[in-house]
Amino acid sequence: MTVRELVPDVYWIGAIDWNRRLFDSLIPLPEGTSYNAYLVKGSEKTALIDTVDPTKEFEYVCNLIRLGVEKVDYIIVNHAEQDHSGSLPMAAELFPGASIVVSEKCKDLVVSLLEIAPERCIVVKDRDTLSLGNKTLEFIMAPWVHWPETMLTYLREDKILFPCDLFGSHLATSDLFVNDMTEVFHAAKRYYAEIMMPFRMQIREHMKKIADLEIGMIAPSHGPLYRPPDPILTLYKEWISDEVKNVVVIPYASMHGSTEKMVLHLAGALIDHGITVKPFDLTKTDLGELAASLVDSATIVLGTPTLLFGPHPLVANAAFITNLIRPKAKFATVIGSYGWGGKTVESLKVMLNHLSVEILDPVYVKGAPDSASLRKLEALADRIAGKHREAGILKE
Ligand code: FEO
Repeated sequence: MTVRELVPDVYWIGAIDWNRRLFDSLIPLPEGTSYNAYLVKGSEKTALIDTVDPTKEFEYVCNLIRLGVEKVDYIIVNHAEQDHSGSLPMAAELFPGASIVVSEKCKDLVVSLLEIAPERCIVVKDRDTLSLGNKTLEFIMAPWVHWPETMLTYLREDKILFPCDLFGSHLATSDLFVNDMTEVFHAAKRYYAEIMMPFRMQIREHMKKIADLEIGMIAPSHGPLYRPPDPILTLYKEWISDEVKNVVVIPYASMHGSTEKMVLHLAGALIDHGITVKPFDLTKTDLGELAASLVDSATIVLGTPTLLFGPHPLVANAAFITNLIRPKAKFATVIGSYGWGGKTVESLKVMLNHLSVEILDPVYVKGAPDSASLRKLEALADRIAGKHREAGILKE
């Protein structure tokens, strides 16, 4: 489509995917995405940093032709997932003299996933450097953001960090750089929730490692770039911290209205306490929105009817995904109704076993909620408010 110059001799050569609506057959992409890839021309050598999704291979090649690139010495693979490495086999064939620069684990993955010849690979370790003449690439190992092989590449002379997925956003935009953080904030938060949140602790360590770098620009592999990098670094510091907000998230499903009545009654009682409430009817919810709301919420309340002998499958799925993405919530519980019993509450508690939450007493009632049930929900709201006060996130 086009190429863009970041600084002299460093170019964006990626592709914008305006119409993609699903990633990993799971993650909704309401605003599309981009596969950012880069070209760095040194005085002696030329390097590519990552490639693009294989569906955008043609655009990638056109961008290389536009820039008149005839020879490439290195192809840096920060991450082996195919939205960045899927065009690597083509690039390796197009530039047969290029070495493929990878971490040890990444070598294994590009060989097994992409059938790259192992002898084409140069394995780099943490803080290794590669000279392109007047430009130097430094590699920083960053395992588990979000695969085990990931590394970041830092272009020393131009102070540009290429962190691949880290600090990215699924956002198709013609703006190369973030001009107004409010325009990218939600996409970046949602992306963090979906991709990075399970690795909050690892990201803490990686952010300590990059703290000693002088970074003038962050050029991730999805979404717009940051120049200066402070807005996204500040947000990540907040998201990976242990701090939570005075928010209760309530993912729920309701078959005949009883559970929804309970959710709305609880929501009202929580609002009366001054707590922000985010209910999500799972028959209508975009899971990315639910994930984003979990980034900094203090409490999770699952609302479910009993379907046969257990939770409604939509709620079980939400609990499974919540457990996978490991939000830093501090409290959780279950509310809902049943007709003839079952193991709903026990099943959901087990499904949240990766969370470090205190489980509050559930409110699980037979049939439609009567006035006694509604009083129990108000007592639950009191209990949640008390917990939020103790945590210092709800003022008296
Ligand atoms: Fe954007 Fe993990 O790939």
